[in-house]
Amino acid sequence: MRSLSITAALVCLALLSGANAEEKLSMSDADKAMYAELVDNNPAEMDVAEGEQLFADVISMENYSKMLGVKEKALPSFIAGFPRYIDAAKKVVTLSQTIQMAAADQGKAVPKLESKEMLKMTAFVKSLANGQKTSIDVKANAQMKEMMKLGQDVFEQRRGGRGLSCNSCHSADIVGQRLRMQNLPDLGASVTAAAGTWPAYRMTKSETTLLDKRFQQCMDNALLAKIPLGSREMVALEVYVTDKTKGNDIQVPGVKR
Ligand code: HEC
Repeated sequence: MRSLSITAALVCLALLSGANAEEKLSMSDADKAMYAELVDNNPAEMDVAEGEQLFADVISMENYSKMLGVKEKALPSFIAGFPRYIDAAKKVVTLSQTIQMAAADQGKAVPKLESKEMLKMTAFVKSLANGQKTSIDVKANAQMKEMMKLGQDVFEQRRGGRGLSCNSCHSADIVGQRLRMQNLPDLGASVTAAAGTWPAYRMTKSETTLLDKRFQQCMDNALLAKIPLGSREMVALEVYVTDKTKGNDIQVPGVKR
């Protein structure tokens, strides 16, 4: 037990080497200038616009809100509360999954969760909630409670060759420290406000990314087996992380490093 925790401490030290060194910036001046430029002129806006078109090809807003069981007028605030338990699905689903349901409902080809079309449509649907606050209710029903618990388990479970969990880098007592040149972000802090700022344009990848895809990128970096999009574990992780950012403004698409 003792040697285990020493190993864990060493792994953390190795990862955080430089954390105690002189304050280093997580972005160079050139990166900062690029970031400012992208905030003013976010390339992801194009994806949102294309998503609107793609969405319109699949389903009308009227049918979409009917399927979700809300009035069209209430869509923005309803969207602000995802992931949610949806009656028509009989489970807790993400916005992307509601688009799949809508497509199936209309007898259209169901877009894959990994596809560019899905990314764009999800970015568009989420943007309808801009100006709202994230309002997930993890106590709304037994299904949400269960997913919240599963999400926390997944977040805290140590996996992979280095025995890391999401929590190893994103726990309250470690955030703000640095991993190589990057800040370890508090996913709930208003600067990150993860649920309110994704989908976002990732400067380092030059592409728009969804929140669950962003989780997968961290899994890749930390050598954790990738949890598939749309799986119970992945949806649960989104529930858990979204709850951390509850009450933050939704302003998508965001711009991220
Ligand atoms: C080895 C450390 C490490 C692990 C483990 C890790 N992350 Fe990260 N994560 C980071 C760093 C560093 C960043 C910021 C990267 C940057 O600035 O480009 C980040 C960024 C993120 C972001 C984006 C935050 C924002 O700006 O909105 C999310 C979301 C996230 N991580 C979720 C997760 C989840 C979920 C897991 C577990 C599956 C996880 N991370 C595991 C280090 C880690």
